[in-house]
Amino acid sequence: MQNRILMFFLIFAPFLAMGSGDFEKVTSEIESVNNMRESLVSGVQGEVKVETFKAVCQPVGMRLKKFAKDNSYKIRQVSHKYRNPKHIPNPEEEKILKSMVEDKELLSLWKMSSNGFRYYRRIEVKTACLNCHGNKNKRPDFVKKKYPEDKAFGFKAGDLRGIYSIFVPKK
Ligand code: HEC
Repeated sequence: MQNRILMFFLIFAPFLAMGSGDFEKVTSEIESVNNMRESLVSGVQGEVKVETFKAVCQPVGMRLKKFAKDNSYKIRQVSHKYRNPKHIPNPEEEKILKSMVEDKELLSLWKMSSNGFRYYRRIEVKTACLNCHGNKNKRPDFVKKKYPEDKAFGFKAGDLRGIYSIFVPKK
């Protein structure tokens, strides 16, 4: 019984405390950004150059940055196998990544903290992503050059690529 009450609290607490406005805003923007990347990447064919990156993961990063700034949220994309070292997960994010690797059905979750709410949403690898995140040796030259610490290769379609990690401060 106590567990049920706790479950109820964990699921609905974000609604109560943030108001459904932020909740709705964050989840729908993240879905829309993720769809944007997946539809942009479907246009990636043949040789991959810097221009292709400018048309896929760069606009995603820019849009997230603007959304965060406009709403005073904090947003990062992080990965256990990161390309840009800015995207190294913190210990909390590492735990979430681990549980999402183990549980493929776990799409997203909210967590409360003393000063606000955190939202995590999985980023899945699609076949077209493998042009840049697949075989290590087949990575585009600009990737090999620009990211000497790159770990974001060797994925298969359906793998967990990383997570969107959002912080919504209490108002
Ligand atoms: C044209 C090459 C290219 C394609 C195709 C591509 N990416 Fe990326 N991706 C990159 C580059 C380059 C970065 C590093 C961006 C940066 O410096 O912040 C990156 C970064 C990322 C990141 C940020 C985390 C990190 O490792 O730094 C995620 C998440 C990501 N890509 C997911 C995807 C997904 C999912 C797809 C397919 C839907 C995809 N990418 C397709 C080139 C690509």
